[in-house]
This record gives sequence, structure tokens and C-alpha cells, in this order.
Amino acid sequence: MKKTFGIIGAGNIAQAVAGHLLKAGYTVTLSSRKDPALLADTIAALGAGAVAGTPADAAQADIVLLALPWAQLATLPNLTNWDQRLVIDATNHYLTFAPDFQVADLNGRASSEVVREQVPGARLVKAFNTLYFKVLAAAPQESAGKRVLFVSGDHADANAEVAALIESLGFNAVTLGTLAGGSQLQQAKGPLASLNLLKKG
Ligand SMILES: NC(=O)c1ccc[n+]([C@@H]2O[C@H](COP(=O)([O-])OP(=O)(O)OC[C@H]3O[C@@H](n4cnc5c(N)ncnc54)[C@H](OP(=O)(O)O)[C@@H]3O)[C@@H](O)[C@H]2O)c1
Repeated sequence: MKKTFGIIGAGNIAQAVAGHLLKAGYTVTLSSRKDPALLADTIAALGAGAVAGTPADAAQADIVLLALPWAQLATLPNLTNWDQRLVIDATNHYLTFAPDFQVADLNGRASSEVVREQVPGARLVKAFNTLYFKVLAAAPQESAGKRVLFVSGDHADANAEVAALIESLGFNAVTLGTLAGGSQLQQAKGPLASLNLLKKG
């Protein structure tokens, strides 16, 4: 049976990733702080397979994507028992956006190491966070090659599962390493942030 996806968030990144998952035939529950009924327009626009739920509903899925603002991370711990759940962290640690783009002070830690504390025991993988949402939403395959998405995490099995998922959606997955190592390259203001690469072959 196909795995289910839940997304904590229903905004730009949630919809961009949901679009690819739905095209591949997955069921995706999107969520926000609003009454799920108020997501009706978003769900209708996404089409078959999209469902609205509460964040707690979304957190029950086999694979959970975090696509909420950094300032809201503290709402995550009580949503479910995160132990061993596969969780994909698409967040970036921006506190403000244009024109100043301030990031949280992480004391040298990777942003996903901070996220990991909010989803205790989860198998956390950083992915889907490097591209502007309109680029992420676009078709992953161009004449020059397949768009690259990066993967980092501390659990080899979870990294491999997310990389295989990304490839199955038509992207090229590049696995970088651990949260403390690879994900720092991916995160906001890291060297790979906003890099829109296409890989041939
Ligand atoms: N925009 C980009 O191009 C981009 C690229 C890469 C990564 N990111 C990162 O991805 C994350 C989401 O960005 P976005 O652009 O998608 O933001 P967005 O369009 O503002 O969407 C955020 C979504 O999260 C929901 N939300 C807020 N607080 C929540 C909570 N406590 N529980 C559940 N849902 C909650 C919001 O709905 P309500 O306010 O109604 O609750 C909204 O649906 C951020 O961490 C951002 O830095 C963004």
C-alpha cells in the first residue's frame, strides 16, 4: 500500500510539494492553525488525493513534512508520538523576510538540529528547503536535466527512503550527510540555499 503524507502547513512549500506527491498518486493531508474547512479552496485547487486536516491529523501520516514558519516550531512536540516517524524538514530559520532576511541565532548548530528537538525520536531528514517555492513547484525535468534536491539526516534508512521518493517524483536527489554536517550546507544562508541545479542523465 502507498504511504500516506501529512504536511504541517498549507502554504507555499506545502502546496508545492503536495503538487508533486499528488501527481504521483499519494494521499496528502495539509494542515494549518485554521479550521480545516477553511482550506477548502486550497484542497480543491490541488485536486484528487488532497485532504484538509488539523496538524494532529497530518502528524499521523506515515511521512510528515514540516512546512510551517520557524517561529511556530514549538507547536510540534505534542502533535503525535514522533518516535521513529519519518519526518522531512523543509523549514528555514528565517525570522524576517524581505528586505532584511534575518535568521535565528542557532549558536553554530544546524537548523535541523534545532527542529529535531521538537519532534523527539523522529527520523528527521532535511529536504525540499533549498528552492524558492515557485521553482520547487515547477516540473522537475527540463531539457537540460533533472532538478536537484538535497537530502541530509542522521538515519541512513530514512535518507535513502527520502532520496528514493524524490527520484520517484522526477527530481535528482543528492545526499549530503548528517544533520550536523550536510544540512548546514542546505539551510538558509548556507552555500546550497537557492541553488537551482539541473543534473544531466
Ligand atoms: N517560500 C519559500 O520559497 C520557501 C523555500 C524553502 C523553504 N521555506 C520554508 O518553508 C516553511 C514554510 O514556508 P512557506 O513559504 O510555505 O510559508 P507560508 O506560505 O506562510 O505557509 C506557512 C503555512 O504554515 C501554516 N502554519 C503556521 N503556523 C502553523 C502551525 N503552528 N501549525 C500548522 N500550520 C501552521 C500557515 O497557516 P496558518 O497561518 O493559517 O496557520 C501556512 O499554511 C518556512 O519555514 C520557510 O522558511 C520557504
